[in-house]
Amino acid sequence: MKVLITGATSGIGLQLATDYLDDGHYVHCCGRNSATLDLLSNKYQDHSETHAFDAANLSEVESSLQGLDELDAIILNAGTCEYINAKQFDAEMFERVLRTNCIGIANCLQLLIPKVKPGGIIGLMGSSSSYLPLPRAEAYGASKAAIEYLSRTLQISLKSSDIHVSYIAPGFVETPLTDKNDFPMPMRVDVKFASEKIRAGLAARKQEIHFPSRFTSILKLISILPNRVQQFLIARVLT
Ligand SMILES: NC(=O)c1ccc[n+]([C@@H]2O[C@H](COP(=O)([O-])OP(=O)(O)OC[C@H]3O[C@@H](n4cnc5c(N)ncnc54)[C@H](OP(=O)(O)O)[C@@H]3O)[C@@H](O)[C@H]2O)c1
Repeated sequence: MKVLITGATSGIGLQLATDYLDDGHYVHCCGRNSATLDLLSNKYQDHSETHAFDAANLSEVESSLQGLDELDAIILNAGTCEYINAKQFDAEMFERVLRTNCIGIANCLQLLIPKVKPGGIIGLMGSSSSYLPLPRAEAYGASKAAIEYLSRTLQISLKSSDIHVSYIAPGFVETPLTDKNDFPMPMRVDVKFASEKIRAGLAARKQEIHFPSRFTSILKLISILPNRVQQFLIARVLT
């Protein structure tokens, strides 16, 4: 299988890339960190290619990806997280997070949807934060809610092209991104667990891949309660 993964230089994306490569698949590894990209291409010379670009910059994405052949799967995983202080709302931070997480995915989709084979798979990295309004996640959660909507819409619009779309919604995963968090992260899992769940979910062509299910099921349950009850529960736990 030919797979393309963005954010393949760290955390979840690096583990996914390594696992697909170790299984013998051909992997296009994308990121900005050229040192890590070089390590991957040296270790897996015969079945990998690396592409260094800023996903938020359309002309960089175009020049890096336009020459690619057909792909069986793409996993648009690159992302960032910054937390908002609502009383001193930082519009530039909001834009930064949305630009990387949403526009980065849109830029890649423009180049890559035409390259995904009929029967192929698109995995879009969201987060279980899209299920509930979480204080401080105004930017991050909004970006992931947009990706959830985008995934659900593309599931309908790309069906006639026989392209499957999965929305990926992890709980907390141990990576450099969450190592920066200054709050408790219940049921945090490691990147190996995350990679197994994502690869199995994509292989099974699940519309939504969420894990660990004990954690994400609680969020999903709260999300169907009336808004006031949700707000009461969230305030009890988080503030
Ligand atoms: N960790 C969690 O608990 C968790 C939970 C839910 C969802 N997620 C999502 O999972 C994805 C991966 O997160 P992670 O935890 O593995 O974080 P991570 O270790 O910080 O990795 C982030 C990856 O995204 C790439 N990236 C960031 N901005 C980019 C840009 N502008 N252009 C190109 N590449 C860019 C980074 O590349 P370079 O380092 O090369 O710049 C890196 O490879 C993110 O979308 C995140 O929101 C994570």
